[in-house]
Amino acid sequence: MNILILGSGGREHAFAWKIAQSPKRTRLFVAPGNAGTAGIATNVNLSVNDFEGIKKLVLDQQIELVVVGPEDPLVNGIVDFFRNDRALKKVKIIGPDAAGAQLEGSKDFSKAFMNKYGIPTAFSHTFTPETLAEGLKYISENPGPYVLKADGLAAGKGVIITADPSEAQQTLKDMLEGGKFGKAGSKVLIEQFLKGIELSVFVLTDGTHYLLLPEAKDYKRIGEGDTGLNTGGMGAVSPVPFADAAFLAKVEERVVIPTLKGLQEEGIHYVGFLFIGLMNDGGDPYVIEYNVRMGDPETEVVMPRIKTDLVRIFNAAAKGTLDKIRLSVNPKYAVTSMVVAGGYPGHYKKGDVMEIPEADKDTVIFHAGTTLLDTATVTNGGRVIALTGMGRTLDSAIRKSQKMARKVKFKNRYYRKDIGQDLKEYVNK
Ligand code: AMP
Ligand code: GLY
Repeated sequence: MNILILGSGGREHAFAWKIAQSPKRTRLFVAPGNAGTAGIATNVNLSVNDFEGIKKLVLDQQIELVVVGPEDPLVNGIVDFFRNDRALKKVKIIGPDAAGAQLEGSKDFSKAFMNKYGIPTAFSHTFTPETLAEGLKYISENPGPYVLKADGLAAGKGVIITADPSEAQQTLKDMLEGGKFGKAGSKVLIEQFLKGIELSVFVLTDGTHYLLLPEAKDYKRIGEGDTGLNTGGMGAVSPVPFADAAFLAKVEERVVIPTLKGLQEEGIHYVGFLFIGLMNDGGDPYVIEYNVRMGDPETEVVMPRIKTDLVRIFNAAAKGTLDKIRLSVNPKYAVTSMVVAGGYPGHYKKGDVMEIPEADKDTVIFHAGTTLLDTATVTNGGRVIALTGMGRTLDSAIRKSQKMARKVKFKNRYYRKDIGQDLKEYVNK
């Protein structure tokens, strides 16, 4: 079976790495891919939003299964494009259609959805340029902290949290009048601030049945101790020691099941990953956001823990037979540390030559922003490479990940040295 993965990050390398271990695979393609995927698959230089180019590739190479990595093509309707094309109709594609992708593509849609189906989340009000005055009044009449969210996709940067009412008012004006975040900010949600500790839960559904994948915690800020600017993610840990069976059972009952039921009631046939960003407030889950894809770098800790053949899982998801799959999960800890280019998430350089260590039996290296220049691997993005360590204890997994990160060399590289440290206090002694 020929398979195509769309995307170019650590997430896509992790999918490719896992698929490459399947006995079922015949040929694997990644578009556009990176230097890491080039070693185990055929990279094809195509944008994930070039639907016509993707169609040609799928037909030329007789691809039977397409796995969509990032949210952009999903929100842009790649699944609808396949469904509505006579030649592509039979091709299996993992990802929701544009209607389902609104769960990530529009925070206003997802908030209304959660409220309609009784899914626990922060209270919120939505404002538009026409109701700016009401929004300003709302801020002056209510205590902070204020969480302001741009409605549309803003590459993880569309959320601003401030305790200062005048800063919140200025931000609201900048978003609604000043075009901050462009079209994504033409509607803004002001949300109640949730307290607690965050984690992410991942579901794969065939539209009816679902698998709960291993959960993970992400480290979003650039600086140690969770300080500084937001990034795409600087590291991840799975399992999450404070997410015990009782908490995960609440997540399933209060969030996962009503979400999938809600999608069915809306007439949305959702096939693919659902990534649920949660706040654990005193043992109760609240949804911060939905994403309609896997997380990056969370995939770099989730895939190494899954023992079941991923091609079998994807086939079952596409055929509606996920109830036939029993997911087998490695109980070990997986920790990943992301090495980034100096300056990221602001301005950074590309094209620096890299030195990459050899993985050993307890480590896996996932390329993110890398490319091949002749025979050299060079940096090609802000988040460059993810180093995953596995261990029976959280501590040993952290050590293995960090040791590998230390050995990655390129000019002005940076990585956080505190990934997973905050979780040690939750580990059973
Ligand atoms: P999002 O883009 O929705 O994931 O938000 C980015 C980050 O902002 C989240 O990972 C949280 O750390 C934080 N955040 C979002 N919404 C809230 C909220 N209602 N209360 C507290 N923190 C939030
Ligand atoms: N690591 C967060 C995300 O993938 O959205």
